[in-house]
Amino acid sequence: MRALNLLIVVFAGLVVNTAAANEYTIASPNDDLVVTISDEGGVLTYQVKKGREQVIDSSALGLRFADQAGLDENLQISKAVRSNKNETWEQPWGERRFVTDKHNELRLSVERSKPKLNFDLIFRVFNDGIGFRYDVPKQRYLANVAITEELTEFNMDQNATAWWIPARKWNRYEYLYQKTKVNDMEMAHTPVTMKLSNGIHVSLHEAALLNYAGMSIEHRRGNNLVANLAPRPDGALVKLNSPFKTPWRTIQVSGDAVGLVNSDLILNLNEPNKLGDTSWFKPGKYVGLWWHQHIKERTWGNDGIHAATTEATIEMMNFAAKYKFDGVLVEGWNIGWDGDWYNNGDVFSFTKAYDDFDIQKVAEHGRNVGVRLIGHHETSGNLTNYENQIDDGFQLYQENDVAIVKTGYVADGGKLKRVDEKGVTRYEFHDGQYNVNHHLRVVEKAAKHKIAINAHEPVKDTGLRRTYPNWVSREGARGQEFNAWAVPPNGPNHVSNLLFTRMLSGPMDYTAGAFDLRPSEREPVNAELGRHDVRARIEHTLAKELSLYVTIYSPIQMVMDLPENYEARPSAFQFIEDVPTDWSKSQALAGEVGEYAVVARQDRNSSDWYLGVHTNEEARNIKTTLEFLGDGVWEAQIYRDGDNADYDTNPYDMVIERKVVKVQDTLSFKLGRSGGAAVRFVKQSN
Ligand code: NOJ
Ligand code: CA
Repeated sequence: MRALNLLIVVFAGLVVNTAAANEYTIASPNDDLVVTISDEGGVLTYQVKKGREQVIDSSALGLRFADQAGLDENLQISKAVRSNKNETWEQPWGERRFVTDKHNELRLSVERSKPKLNFDLIFRVFNDGIGFRYDVPKQRYLANVAITEELTEFNMDQNATAWWIPARKWNRYEYLYQKTKVNDMEMAHTPVTMKLSNGIHVSLHEAALLNYAGMSIEHRRGNNLVANLAPRPDGALVKLNSPFKTPWRTIQVSGDAVGLVNSDLILNLNEPNKLGDTSWFKPGKYVGLWWHQHIKERTWGNDGIHAATTEATIEMMNFAAKYKFDGVLVEGWNIGWDGDWYNNGDVFSFTKAYDDFDIQKVAEHGRNVGVRLIGHHETSGNLTNYENQIDDGFQLYQENDVAIVKTGYVADGGKLKRVDEKGVTRYEFHDGQYNVNHHLRVVEKAAKHKIAINAHEPVKDTGLRRTYPNWVSREGARGQEFNAWAVPPNGPNHVSNLLFTRMLSGPMDYTAGAFDLRPSEREPVNAELGRHDVRARIEHTLAKELSLYVTIYSPIQMVMDLPENYEARPSAFQFIEDVPTDWSKSQALAGEVGEYAVVARQDRNSSDWYLGVHTNEEARNIKTTLEFLGDGVWEAQIYRDGDNADYDTNPYDMVIERKVVKVQDTLSFKLGRSGGAAVRFVKQSN
C-alpha cells in the first residue's frame, strides 16, 4: 500500500516538489514500456512494465561509500526534467549502417538530507528497452569516494528461465551457458537473458563501462537480483572523485527472442565517435598461424616445432593472397613463449623476435602480395609488463603495416598482475576498474598508431566501439579454441546460446570456419607435442560452420582452419571467400535462445544478401520468408545440410545448389542435428 499523501507526477516539464513521497513515470516512445520511480520512505525504487505485464518488480537504487554517507537513504526527488530524442546516426562499420536512437528521457534530481548530498538519476526509455545511470555532480563531501556497494536491483519473476554464465570464476567469461530458473541462478556475468512465462524476453547488461567496475548480477533469493561489482585489490569496488557517472544499467525487453538481437540499445547509450576518422580500419577476413598451435601441430614457442617462422608466415600470406583474405595472424613470433607461456607474463617481449622470424621481411612480402600481418600481443595477464612496452610494441607494428592487433590476457579471473606506484604487486579482475581503464588506454594508444584492437580474455563489451571505433572485436566467451582441447568442447547448443546472450554486447572473434571437424583424428606430426586431445572435435555440421559467418557478427572474421583443409573442399570454401564482414542491414528473422536462429544481413559494399541458419542438437525443419530481399530476381547460392547430415555421424553431408528466387518466395531447410545452412543472394535483374 502506498502512503496516503502520495503525489503522482506524470505531466511533462519541470516539477519542484514538496515533502510528500513522489512517484514519476516515463514511457517508451510507443508507450509499451513504462518505468515508475518512487522515493517513498526516503529510498529510491523503480519498476518496469511492458503493457500490462510486470517485467521488473519494485527494485532498489543507490550507492554506498566507505567513508561518507551513501546515496541510499533520506532521499527525496526534488526535480524532474523530461526530454526526448529521435535521430539517426551512421556507423563507420557494423551490423547496420544507420542506427535510430529514439527515446524519452527523465532526469530526476535527488537530494539527501543529513548530510546534504545530491545526484541525478537518468532514465532513457526506448521501444526496445531501458537504460539508467547515476550521475553524481562535483561536491566537496564526495571528493574521493570508495564505492562499497551498488544497491541497484533487477527483481524478476523467479520462475523465469535464465541463460547465464557464472561470474567471478577462474575462467572469466569462458563458460558454457546454463539454463535455469531465475531462482536457481548464481552470480552471473552480463548479458544475462531471461524468458518470462508470458513469453517476454529480457536481457540485463550495461553500456559505456568506463572508469568503473563491471557489473555482475547476483541472485540472492527468490526474485531478488542485485548488481555486484568486481572488487579492486584494496577491497573497494570502485574509487572515484565527483563528478562521476556510472555506466548505464540496461534492460532490453522484447516480445520475442530475436527482438533482443535486433536491438541497438547498447550502442545508443554510448557516446558518439571520439576518434574522428578511423577509415584506416578496414573490416575483413584473416587467416593465421593459430589453429596449428591449438591442435598441437606446431608450438607457440621455439621449444618444439615453431609455428611463427618467416617461411611459414610467407606461405600463409600467399594462401591469403590467393583467396583475397586481408590478413595473416601470427602468434608466437616474439620472445617469451617457451615453456609454460601461461605463466610467462613477466618475460614477454613485444618487440624482440625469435631468430627464425623476420618481421621486416614478412611485412615486405605482405606489401608485395597485398596482405597485412595481424599483430599479436599476449600478455599472460601481466598488465605492467605490457604497459611498459606498449608504445614500442605498437610502433614496431605500425612500421610493419600492421593495422589490427589481437591482444590476450590469459590469466585466471582475479589474477591479472600489475605493479603499483609503490612497487607492490596487485592482482586484478578482468572486469575490475583497473582493467577497464587498462583496455581503454590500450585502445587509445593503438588509435594513435592507426591500429585496431581485437582483445581476447577481455573485459566484456559494453558498446564502446561506438565511441572508439578501433575497438573492433573481442573474445569474452568460449570460442572455437575450446573445440581443439576442451572437455567438453562447445557442443551443439553453444552458438545458439551465444547469439542471444554474449552477442547482445557486441562483436565476437569466435573464429569460425572449421573444415576438418575431427582434428583429433589427424596423423600426429610430432608425438612429443602430446598430440591432439582425444575430444578435439567440432560438434557442428559443415554447413553450420559456414552459417556462423552470418549469424555471429564481427567486422573481422577469422578463417581459422589449415589451408590444406580448405583446399580439400573448394566448393564449400567458396562461401567463405564470398561472405563479407561489413553490413548495411541486419535482421534476426526467427529463433529461440539456445535452440535455433535465422539471420539475414546485407553486404555494405554490394546489393548481396546473406542468410545464416543454425540449430542446436535438435534436427528441425525451418521455413523462412525472403521479405528482406528487394524487388527483382535473385540467385540464391545455397549451402545446406544434406538429407543425412548429423553433427555426430555425418557432419560433411552438405548440398550446394542454386535457385532463382523473388521477395515473395520462401526457402525451406531440413537441418540435421547441430546443422545449418548458409545462403548468398545475388541480384540477377530488376
Ligand atoms: C587465448 C586466445 O583466446 C587464443 O586465441 C590465443 O591463441 C591464445 N590465448 C594464445 O595467446
Ligand atoms: Ca580465450
